[in-house]
Amino acid sequence: MTIDHEDDLAGLRRAGRAVAEARDAMLASVAPGVATGDLDAVGRDVLARHGARPAPPTVGFPAATCVSVNEEVAHGIPSPGRRLRAGDLVNVDVSARVDAYWADTGASVAVGTVPVRARRLLDATRLANRDGLAAARAGRPVRHIGRAIQRRARRHGFSVIRNLSGHGTGGGLWEVPSVPGWEDPDDGTVLWEGLVLAIEPFLSTGATWAEETGDGWTLRTPGHLSAQVEHTVVVTRGDPLVLTA
Ligand code: CO
Ligand code: CO
Repeated sequence: MTIDHEDDLAGLRRAGRAVAEARDAMLASVAPGVATGDLDAVGRDVLARHGARPAPPTVGFPAATCVSVNEEVAHGIPSPGRRLRAGDLVNVDVSARVDAYWADTGASVAVGTVPVRARRLLDATRLANRDGLAAARAGRPVRHIGRAIQRRARRHGFSVIRNLSGHGTGGGLWEVPSVPGWEDPDDGTVLWEGLVLAIEPFLSTGATWAEETGDGWTLRTPGHLSAQVEHTVVVTRGDPLVLTA
């Protein structure tokens, strides 16, 4: 959506705060032995306290949030039987609406001590998100966001997943424009003031494609670790306004 009233900004801030607090509460609960289903319960409770409706159930997903471990890159189904172990990478992704306003956020973290390459992947993904945000400025092409993300990934020796993208958001969970984590030279879309975007680089230790799995939801990068960091922002003429910090 494009913000055109102060009311819109206030509504989006409420939605952003709800998903960011749910994300942070879930990340604070990450520890060896904790089940991914426990993390989902933590996130669901925080959203409920904010009067926020989680997005995943509205499309038939069987939980309030997505929790993806190691090779899983997105849309992992939280489960009481899936326990985290030291050395895992875990991603939580929280999307919800408060009243008519939607926000979307996610982050990947280490469970206990992880191998150095996994640690570097997490650091590079955080930097890729920061670089993507810095490129999101009114008047600049949307593809510059992907270019910044791609450069960061390459500089650290990682790949970008090409079939997962950031997106417009705010008035619905997924809106135009698409915001890929790689530069599409054919994309002539120029960013404008007030546009609400979810910027979410997906980096991997080598995969460039997320594959569907038998459960109908979980996307995996077999043989490779993957990580994601996502923020919902409002595009301005300067630095974007981050709603999910
Ligand atoms: Co998300
Ligand atoms: Co998203």
